Amino acid sequence: MNTAKKILVLLGSPRKKGNSTTLAKQIVQGAESAGAEVETVYLNGLNIKPCQGCYACKKKDSKGCVVDDDMQSLYPKITASDAMVIATPVYWFNMTAQTKIFMDRCFGLFDASFTVNPLYKKQIAIAMSYGDTDPFNSGCVNALRSFQDAFRYVGARIAGMVYGSAEEPGEISSNAVLMQQAEDLGKKLGRV
Ligand SMILES: Cc1cc2nc3c(=O)[nH]c(=O)nc-3n(C[C@H](O)[C@H](O)[C@H](O)COP(=O)(O)O)c2cc1C
Repeated sequence: MNTAKKILVLLGSPRKKGNSTTLAKQIVQGAESAGAEVETVYLNGLNIKPCQGCYACKKKDSKGCVVDDDMQSLYPKITASDAMVIATPVYWFNMTAQTKIFMDRCFGLFDASFTVNPLYKKQIAIAMSYGDTDPFNSGCVNALRSFQDAFRYVGARIAGMVYGSAEEPGEISSNAVLMQQAEDLGKKLGRV
């Protein structure tokens, strides 16, 4: 029987070699070293429309979200995963629009009573980068708080958060302490 942990990584930066992606890759390295199976999704490359607020996902006998776009292929991956890693830079004192649209569309995972709740007890890791030197002034803390509130609300478990300051793509890899924290978080997620 395959008992490897399944980890879904959502990249919320448009920069493919950016800092949040660098952190996410380090988490992946740790997770794979612990035996996990990892799939990475570059959100910016997908056609994911904002939630339309139609509540079709909450109607009786609903089959979920009715917006016909690339989120439909992500819903089963989210459900099948044991853990999700969400990586995003700070844009205007919060997560990127790509990440926020993904979060909003996760509303379609639940029925009205949250009896159907694929995020319940799912492990979540957050990786963030920002240009300011301070996590509060940068707005990073706002985004972390948004993730905490959302995942607490649905009963998911935040396994850890790694975040740091950097500007140029990949510059964050010179922060050895942070890179180690990211790898350790990955190992924690990957352990069966
Ligand atoms: C549109 C835009 C908005 C930004 N807003 C902020 C901000 O509010 N606070 C901050 O500290 N850095 C801000 N930054 C800087 C990025 O967060 C920083 O460069 C980050 O490391 C980029 O991560 P990435 O390489 O993963 O894309 C912004 C950058 C852009 C392009």
